[in-house]
Amino acid sequence: MGSQINIGVVGAGAMGCGIAQVAASAGAEVLLYDSNTEALKKAMAQLEETIRRLQEKGRLGPGVFERIQPVSALSAMETTSLVIEAIVEQLSVKQTLFVALEAIVSPDCLLATNTSSLSVTALAGACAHPERVLGLHFFNPAPLMRLVEIAPALQSSPTLVDKAESLLKQWGKTTVRVKDTPGFIVNRVARPYYGEALRIYEEGVASPATIDWAMTTLAGFRMGPFALMDLIGHDVNYTVTETVFKSFFFDPRYKPSFSQQRLVEARYLGRKTGKGFYDYRAGAPAVEPLQEEGLGWQIANRIVVMLINEAADALFWQVATAGEIDLAMTQGVNYPKGLLRWADEWGAERCVAMLDELYALYREDRYRCSPLIRRKAEKKERFYPD
Ligand code: NAI
Repeated sequence: MGSQINIGVVGAGAMGCGIAQVAASAGAEVLLYDSNTEALKKAMAQLEETIRRLQEKGRLGPGVFERIQPVSALSAMETTSLVIEAIVEQLSVKQTLFVALEAIVSPDCLLATNTSSLSVTALAGACAHPERVLGLHFFNPAPLMRLVEIAPALQSSPTLVDKAESLLKQWGKTTVRVKDTPGFIVNRVARPYYGEALRIYEEGVASPATIDWAMTTLAGFRMGPFALMDLIGHDVNYTVTETVFKSFFFDPRYKPSFSQQRLVEARYLGRKTGKGFYDYRAGAPAVEPLQEEGLGWQIANRIVVMLINEAADALFWQVATAGEIDLAMTQGVNYPKGLLRWADEWGAERCVAMLDELYALYREDRYRCSPLIRRKAEKKERFYPD
């Protein structure tokens, strides 16, 4: 697949716009469609503005906006070689779209979904030619975040994955191949960053400000979990957690939290509504963390060891390789360090001891140590032998 081919993008929201910009920046001709004509108009205006600003700063060459053509009917996708879908996160709506696309595009056109949490296999299952369907999971904002998770459906043709990978490399993306499992790598491995922080808060151990301080100042993450959830939006973040929880057949490790559910019910969705865990409205009092190092490290270590456990378990279940899991977390969500590298620094024995201590305290399956960390500890092995 060359970079001059026609790319179709369906859904002109945050992700569709970003993906259209990425493809056009790499030289592809892009057709952008949205069922909501107003949304499409707004998207084009926004793209024009963003691209113009980047060109003024010398960060983009000429002709990028001109390569993105809004189309008012799905039938225009006839000429495309790859369609990337970034519409609403509902399986039946996505399936209907893919069935409609199959009646329009050529037999060798690839159909990709940007889903974060749905089964790519279930989406392919609705298609007459499921072998051409795969997941290409971009991160927000797509032009800035380098990572794309490539998730083939069970039915995908193996050559399809190679084709998609080489195209994405031409687009300047870093790719990881991931098994079609709920949340792929990033949205699975990152769950404890939110979930464990919420537990610590709900137990009354510390305030959101203190937990955020521990995770940023002490553990080195760019943004604390509560500030991050407020930024993502509690509606979005809660839905991903709930979907992952259900998709894992209610594994308690992914259990959503009441405090976040209440925020959603109250429409305290975070920055976008002016209030979430923090109050962003004018005149709201500033909240100060309790900067007590002992407490801070206790919090940070508990969250990090739960993240390590999740990363190790993803490796145990062969979701991806150790290198890909670490790459995904450092490039997809800017973690300061790969979690399996972190495990090697701490040593598997220490991780097992920390997790077993949590398990002994709570007696909840949520804190079960991944068999892989236990095995590494017993054999005195590292995740990275070098
Ligand atoms: P969005 O709500 O900003 O945009 C979705 C767009 O799709 C809207 O403009 C809507 O009018 C359009 N649309 C809905 N149904 C349609 C249909 N049947 N045909 C054509 N257009 C339709 O959503 P966003 O955030 O861009 O997400 C899109 C997809 O990308 C979802 O599957 C989401 O899970 C996934 N995703 C989102 C990320 C994020 O951080 N926002 C990150 C990675 C993936």
